[in-house]
Amino acid sequence: MDQAHHRPRAGIIGTGGIAHAHAEALRLAGAELVVAVDIDQDRAVAFADKMGFAHTASSVAAAAELQLDLVAVCTPPSSHAPLALEALALGMNVVLEKPPALSLRQLQELQEAEQITGKRVSCIFQHRFGTGARRLADLQESGALGNPLTGFCNTLWFRNQEYFDVPWRGQWDVEGGGPTMGHGIHQFDLLLHLWGPWQEVTAFAGKLARRTETEDVSTAIVRFESGALSTVINSVISPRETSQLRFDYENATVELEHLYGYDDSNWRFTPAPGQEHLADAWTDGAAGTASGHSAQYEQIIEAVRSGAVPPVTLAEAYPTMELAAAIYASAITGKTVRRGGITEEDPFFDRADGRLEPWKLEESNA
Ligand SMILES: NC(=O)c1ccc[n+]([C@@H]2O[C@H](COP(=O)([O-])OP(=O)(O)OC[C@H]3O[C@@H](n4cnc5c(N)ncnc54)[C@H](O)[C@@H]3O)[C@@H](O)[C@H]2O)c1
Repeated sequence: MDQAHHRPRAGIIGTGGIAHAHAEALRLAGAELVVAVDIDQDRAVAFADKMGFAHTASSVAAAAELQLDLVAVCTPPSSHAPLALEALALGMNVVLEKPPALSLRQLQELQEAEQITGKRVSCIFQHRFGTGARRLADLQESGALGNPLTGFCNTLWFRNQEYFDVPWRGQWDVEGGGPTMGHGIHQFDLLLHLWGPWQEVTAFAGKLARRTETEDVSTAIVRFESGALSTVINSVISPRETSQLRFDYENATVELEHLYGYDDSNWRFTPAPGQEHLADAWTDGAAGTASGHSAQYEQIIEAVRSGAVPPVTLAEAYPTMELAAAIYASAITGKTVRRGGITEEDPFFDRADGRLEPWKLEESNA
């Protein structure tokens, strides 16, 4: 069959909540829904029937016998890297839900496995793919906006105590962190995607309102290589929920406000005095695609068909994971952390809490 019209054969590992978005996006992008994998077989069967998968399986190895081109890993975070390593070794490309790994070490191991197997990992960071983000990236690249100066990146979400009473939630070992690693990462991934390399970060984190092992809020100040400065809040204890990003450039302010996904209408463009002509350039930019799994999968499936590298690569995800690690390292040690400063010997390279268990210490001293 002509490669361009080949329907990539896809499987999903972990058939809980977010797997539904993957199945729908895979279908829309033209993939063949081959197998649903779950350690809970009843759940796998119900999911396969509902979403139209031909087979079910209870392990990655069993799924691999079905000659898959790619599998999406939609399980709790601690199993992401182990399952991805297994799938790569069995000859499949992998799509990894966020966070792609629990640590920079695991991210590095995945990169090494890609090189050995020749298969690729794409990390889900779906907010890079809406046309609003592309419109801003295009305008920024044209030079029309001038230099980026300052902004903010607020993930102000609300999760009650019941949410954290689920056994795997809010644990360093399983989730890798709290709202910094698990929720705000969506927003600051978009910030870094647009504003490029970060240079240094100073952060605070607290466990203010929920019984959990990890933080329930963190705040950070990030300096970019460009010189721009942004604040970043990652919260799951904010009663009026919103996700807000603000980008102030020399010639315009660009704002995004949404909750869990945006479309073009969630963006606002305000030219600086004397720069009113820029409003037309903004209006004429890319349009029509909401952020979300479908927008990212369109590009992933296209890449799998053509043999190109599917987005977001591990290398492209590294700065985001590195900023998450650095926010924890700064909050826990009380020091400013520079990009590249968390080396392989650093305890924060292996775990977001650096094995220092900060809040446990506070509690035992109380
Ligand atoms: N990108 C997004 O917007 C977004 C939104 C929600 C969740 N997520 C991420 O998706 C992942 C899954 O979250 P969820 O809410 O769907 O979880 P969930 O608990 O609803 O589903 C997880 C499923 O994985 C199965 N499972 C666990 N270990 C397994 C294994 N080793 N092999 C096969 N199946 C296994 C469980 O039985 C369960 O059915 C998490 O990493 C989460 O952070 C991403």
